[in-house]
Order: sequence, then structure tokens, then C-alpha cells
Amino acid sequence: MKKEKAFIFDLDGVIVDTAKYHFLAWRNLANSLGFEFTEEQNELLKGVSRVKSLEILLKIGNVELTEDKKQTLLIQKNTEYLQYVNKMTAEEILPGINELLDFLDQNNIKYALGSASKNAPLILEKVGLLNRFTAIVDGNDVSKAKPDPEVFLIGAQKLNMKPEDCIVVEDAIAGVEAANAANMLSIGIGDAEVLKEADYVLSDTTGFTTDFIQKILN
Ligand code: BG6
Ligand code: MG
Repeated sequence: MKKEKAFIFDLDGVIVDTAKYHFLAWRNLANSLGFEFTEEQNELLKGVSRVKSLEILLKIGNVELTEDKKQTLLIQKNTEYLQYVNKMTAEEILPGINELLDFLDQNNIKYALGSASKNAPLILEKVGLLNRFTAIVDGNDVSKAKPDPEVFLIGAQKLNMKPEDCIVVEDAIAGVEAANAANMLSIGIGDAEVLKEADYVLSDTTGFTTDFIQKILN
């Protein structure tokens, strides 16, 4: 009999493309502080926690602020981000993901979410996927951010699976590193050069063909 496997999915950049909304909110914040923030610089924030993202942004703008002011800005950024999130619908699920989840359901393969986002449950609810995951681990559940493996190890525990039987789908370098550190199989979504540490790389989520899924399950 084939060994049982499970999937753990990152959210932002794998299930939905929220990077564009994070970008709009961070750019507005940067502009309000008097500096520019480009889409290229936004790449640096992928997979990175909200607090760490602000630190990176302030470094780009060469701005130093008090802790109190930083807290205010974090709330301001998230409030704007949530305005975009609240308008999200199932249309924003990335191509191939619904089919992949259907395949996993039909084959009794469990899956969990392993995301750095504290907004993960809300986003899943908005796109109609909240009830499909066996377990959800998000930014509220972890004390150590990716590339630390904590988020995925908790995911495996909640799925009642051994780490080595879990397959992680990630679009960020830090996420691939976290999966590797957890001793899980890593599938990167994006540029193979950037995600070179992943066991497999797909340029986008349409790459989850039945053939590919069968290959990684065997
Ligand atoms: C990650 C995103 O999934 O979540 C990051 O890739 C984001 O860009 C992080 O900063 C935290 O998200 P949130 O929703 O808690 O601000
Ligand atoms: Mg991501």
C-alpha cells in the first residue's frame, strides 16, 4: 500500500494573490512617510510577517520611528489591507487550486494551511475555502516566523502526520526554507532560480496536473 501523505499550503501567493493588496497598502504607508516603494521592493516582503515587513519598509525609506508610532502604522496598514480583503471573492482563487483541492478530497488526502498571515481565516472565508482545510495554522499560532519550521510542524501535528510525509506548497524563499527545515517535501511556486532550494518548482499553480500530483505522491 502507498504511504499516506498530506499537503500543507501557504496562503498568500499560493491559494490567492494577495501580494498586490499588501503592496498597495505598504506603498500608501511609504508615501505618507515621504518615500517611494516599488513593486520590486515589495518582493522583499513576501512570506515575511507584518512586523518584519514594516521594519524592512522603514529601512528602505531610511526612517526611524518610536515603538508607539510603529504600532499605529501597523494598524493603519492592516486597516487598508482589510478593505481590499473584504472585497475578495472565490474568483480570486489562483488557477488550478480548486482542481487540486478537489483531487485531494477525492483521494482522501488531507491538507492544512500554514501561513504567516494573521488574516488567513478571514481571507479563506472570503474566497469560500475556510471549511475545506482539515487544519489552519496562521500568524496567530506561531512564535517563530518562516524560515523557522514551526508553522509547518504545528500543521503536521494537527493533521496527525509525520513531517516527512507532508508536502509543502510555497511561493516564498523563507517558506521553502521552513519546509526543508521541517524535513518536508517542498514545492515552490514561482521562479526556479529564486526558489532553487525547493525539491520541485512550478512556474505557477496551473502546474498541478494530475500527472505531477501522482509523481510527487509516489
Ligand atoms: C504572508 C505574506 O503570507 O503574510 C506577507 O506573504 C505578509 O507579505 C504576511 O506580510 C503577514 O500577513 P498579515 O495578513 O498578517 O499582515
Ligand atoms: Mg506566500
